[in-house]
Amino acid sequence: MMIQQILQEKKQLVDQYLAKLLATTEPANQTLYDSMNYSLLAGGKRIRPALFLMALDFLGKPSAAYLDAACAIECIHTYSLIHDDLPQMDNDDYRRGKLTNHKIYGAGMATMAGDGLLTYAFTLLSEMKSVTPDIRCQLIALLARAAGPEGMVGGQAQDIEAEHRQLTMNALRTLDYYKTVRLLCVPLDMASAAANAEHETADAFHVYGLHIGYLFQITDDLLDATGSLEEMGKNPGQDQIHNKATYASLAGLAGARELAQEECDKAVHAVAQLGKRAEPFQELAMYLLHRTK
Ligand code: IPE
Ligand code: IPE
Ligand code: MG
Ligand code: MG
Ligand code: MG
Repeated sequence: MMIQQILQEKKQLVDQYLAKLLATTEPANQTLYDSMNYSLLAGGKRIRPALFLMALDFLGKPSAAYLDAACAIECIHTYSLIHDDLPQMDNDDYRRGKLTNHKIYGAGMATMAGDGLLTYAFTLLSEMKSVTPDIRCQLIALLARAAGPEGMVGGQAQDIEAEHRQLTMNALRTLDYYKTVRLLCVPLDMASAAANAEHETADAFHVYGLHIGYLFQITDDLLDATGSLEEMGKNPGQDQIHNKATYASLAGLAGARELAQEECDKAVHAVAQLGKRAEPFQELAMYLLHRTK
């Protein structure tokens, strides 16, 4: 199966599950739920849950039994986007082809929608029925670490401090490790934990996840410099307007493309030892290298 088909299939599973997830019987909370669903159901590529489900496929575990965890990952990611777009952060007007959450619901409610999605992710994980309590705890710990101060939140805090500051390439790599790489790598780590994967497989997936993570942010930076609102669903040119240090600003477009190619090659290499069945992961790396949205 082509990687586009696999991604499409996984996205469909995740979208269907997400659509039924957030409902409230408390009318007083309706606006909060509307606001959470507004961003969660706005589309999105669902790359992180797809990675999780692809890794589980490889390890012989059925997607249907792990959709709670897949959606927990997506809830965390969507929350990070809502907060990332806030006026006090990147101050963006468009996301996933729609006005940003705070443009519709206001900054206060958008903050709560993010907080709600963040917390709900751990409700989902802690109530998972398809895994043992031990594995459930491991999944919670992995996602919490990757999302929190040792992960995405740490990176976003570094990103705030980096504005109007000249960053070295090393400092940018550190920032992006926390901001983006951690949440792209953790779906693979979670799949390995859920399926009790052999050490060699888990290590290979982890190294692959690290390179996919960098590849993802480098292409995000490139698309900010070269992409379009129509394709990406978010405004390009924002990094330059806000004087952000990015791979494109530090290495130039050609330099950033080279770096992306290097990360892609390393990702492909990392899973080569897993044999033919791991080919979809190699295809995914190449797909992410050439993505236009
Ligand atoms: C954007 O993530 C934020 C980054 C970490 C670069 P995605 O490009 O995965 O956004 P969606 O989920 O498809 O909207
Ligand atoms: C944000 O990086 C990564 C997150 C943790 C949300 P960006 O600020 O570059 O993401 P976009 O370009 O707004 O999607
Ligand atoms: Mg940002
Ligand atoms: Mg942003
Ligand atoms: Mg960006």
